[in-house]
Amino acid sequence: VFQAYYQLEARGWIEARERSGYFVRAPRRAAGRSETSPRIHLLQGGDSDLVMEVLERTSRRDVVPFASPFPNPRLFPLEQIGRVMAEAARGLSPAQTVDGLVGGKEALRQAIAVRYLQRGVTVSPDEIVITNGALEALNLSLASVAAPGDAVVIESPGFYGAKQALHRLGMRAVEVPVHPVDGIDLQRLDEAIIRSGAVACWLMPSHQNPLGISLGDAKKRELVEMVTRRGVALIEDDVYGEMSFDHQPSRPAKAWDRAGVVLHCSSFSKCLAPGYRVGWVAAGVNASAVSRMKLNTTLMSTMPGQLGLARYLDQGSYARHLRKLQHGLAAQATAYMRAVQEFFPAGTRMQPPTGGYFVWLRLPEEVDAVDLYRRALAQGISIAPGPMFSNAALHRSCVRINFSIDLDARALNALRVVGALATAMQRTAAARQIGSVY
Ligand SMILES: Cc1ncc(COP(=O)(O)O)c(C=O)c1O
Repeated sequence: VFQAYYQLEARGWIEARERSGYFVRAPRRAAGRSETSPRIHLLQGGDSDLVMEVLERTSRRDVVPFASPFPNPRLFPLEQIGRVMAEAARGLSPAQTVDGLVGGKEALRQAIAVRYLQRGVTVSPDEIVITNGALEALNLSLASVAAPGDAVVIESPGFYGAKQALHRLGMRAVEVPVHPVDGIDLQRLDEAIIRSGAVACWLMPSHQNPLGISLGDAKKRELVEMVTRRGVALIEDDVYGEMSFDHQPSRPAKAWDRAGVVLHCSSFSKCLAPGYRVGWVAAGVNASAVSRMKLNTTLMSTMPGQLGLARYLDQGSYARHLRKLQHGLAAQATAYMRAVQEFFPAGTRMQPPTGGYFVWLRLPEEVDAVDLYRRALAQGISIAPGPMFSNAALHRSCVRINFSIDLDARALNALRVVGALATAMQRTAAARQIGSVY
């Protein structure tokens, strides 16, 4: 009977009155919100609206989610992670629930430092700050090294989270083009830094989102030398760093950082435990500023999550999981590229990704990617159109595809449909051009 009371109380049907018992609550009208009010309030401003729209539509269960930013959840040892999380939560002593307030749990920071060593980077656990996913790490890094009004270099095409963060913090975005095969041009980057007086760069040297390509080691070293020379902080977004298709794990630019100017941000969201929201930044000379900002904003990250991941990393099965993941994704990349070659219009170009789970398609220029996105969506398929990844609505004929989605009959057919739509759009545009000539 008491269990029933407790449950009814928890659901708001009854209330306990001291020394009197339980009473049915008077129904209370919810203020404001009506059934018809929209679930998501879109941000103001062109391409942010597009990003929100694409992400929202992609999350629907009945849509084939090629536009998804998430890895296919089937790729992760979720049962095993669930087990270690439960063990960690059960074994949590009262003192453990609150220690690790500054910087995060020591055991996890040490385990992450060991991962760095395995990638050829020496990082002290003291410069690591645990965060709620990489996105918080990136935002805290940005706010620690730049102030409102400052110029910050970002990539085009690049991760839309960067331009949104700059916009929110009142900073100026300086977009530098990233070549779909060769990556960022360091000469142009240097010129952009000098011209704009930028105080920081937010870049993805490995498995860039959305291009899927990486800079070679020599270029990463040169990049770090350049920002060091210019006195500029490098916020390195390396969320796909552990998902390299090479047998060797890719080395982050942080590996060449002697002056501590690189704030290397990553998480377990893409490679091990999506949804658990555990990330970090190895912030170099900015570690205490980032740590202070973390304390002032979200205090600390979930303790069972941190302890569970530390426990998982300690068990020794992570390297095996990563090998399997990399192997599986590399095979998926090949299968997707083959299908694109078969179904998409002649003249579609793509560069084999070096890691991660995105491939960037450059369609014939007559194909408008936003238009293609809308037509595909009408058929229950989402693709990420190029203008999502730039401030200036560039990349109008480009599309990002998430190839971690199982390439089963439904997905294969969806690729065929998108390819046919693009081909039809190209033909119509070509016929219109011929018509206008005559
Ligand atoms: C390039 C890039 N950086 C950062 C993030 C955010 O990572 P997390 O989920 O760990 O916050 C994402 C997620 O979509 C991403 O694609």
